[in-house]
Amino acid sequence: MADLNVKINDLVLKNPVMTASGTFGYGIEFADLVPLDELGGIIVKGTTLHAREGNDYPRMAETASGMLNCVGLQNKGVDYFCDHIYPQIKDINTNMIVNVSGNDPESYAECAARIDALDSIPAIELNISCPNVKHGGMSFGVTCDGAASVVKAVRKAYHKTLIVKLSPNVTDITSIARTCEEEGADAVSLINTLMGMAVDIEKREPMLSIRTGGLSGPAVKPVALRMVYDVAHAVNIPVVGLGGISNTSDAIEFLMCGATAIEIGTSNFVDPTVTINVINGINEWLDSHGCKSINEIIGAIKD
Ligand SMILES: Cc1cc2nc3c(=O)[nH]c(=O)nc-3n(C[C@H](O)[C@H](O)[C@H](O)COP(=O)(O)O)c2cc1C
Repeated sequence: MADLNVKINDLVLKNPVMTASGTFGYGIEFADLVPLDELGGIIVKGTTLHAREGNDYPRMAETASGMLNCVGLQNKGVDYFCDHIYPQIKDINTNMIVNVSGNDPESYAECAARIDALDSIPAIELNISCPNVKHGGMSFGVTCDGAASVVKAVRKAYHKTLIVKLSPNVTDITSIARTCEEEGADAVSLINTLMGMAVDIEKREPMLSIRTGGLSGPAVKPVALRMVYDVAHAVNIPVVGLGGISNTSDAIEFLMCGATAIEIGTSNFVDPTVTINVINGINEWLDSHGCKSINEIIGAIKD
């Protein structure tokens, strides 16, 4: 068996496969189906300083090889997370990472500071890229100034591993990634969903309540892969790659394009055990290609 360990700053992952925020709950919902301690990490649902109702229904629509969603960061707020969810997840033997969102730099920082105090959460993923909320969310992730303002505020308040999740809805994702690195991000993850739309032609109405939503699933993979490749060649911090990964070869493509680790999102809805299959698949691939360590393939695609 090859060595699958990877490192993101101080964070050691037993393998590079994590679940993507918003697609795997808090992990515990899947405990009967998936051996959670075999995962490299679990990135839990988006958490905000105050509770959020999310958007009206309908907020999901199936598309060719993917889905659109406009859930809108529904969650019960960071106090609820600390008091009720954290006690249930703190002993899961994998990296439990909290995805943090906010309306302004201050609320991001306050939420991050609350999570900083939780011993069993070794990292946060800062979501500056949600396309489905009116205030905050993606607006910070689409300009260098916006990204800088949030990362700077959170970096002061948060002392463990800080991963910043980038939006693909930009012209040049590398400049945003570089800004995050300059402001102290320990890693970047990409991509969040791509803005899209679907129409119910009988009703002559958009399928989603807020008209647009975020596209995810296999349809976005080539776009995500290109962005991961570009960002991995533009920054010196680790890159976490995601977007449309549904099998072992998808995951290996991301690793070869420079991702140190990967996340799997929408594919969990199709097969909740996909992460375990991909971990086993990477192991078999490395063995059959004579590789002793995952590091032999990370970044194999050069300039
Ligand atoms: C239903 C749903 C909810 C999501 N919620 C969040 C969230 O709370 N925070 C976040 O950063 N990303 C969220 N995402 C985006 C995913 O984490 C991921 O970035 C995106 O779906 C692309 O990966 P995939 O194609 O593997 O799903 C959500 C995606 C879906 C489909």
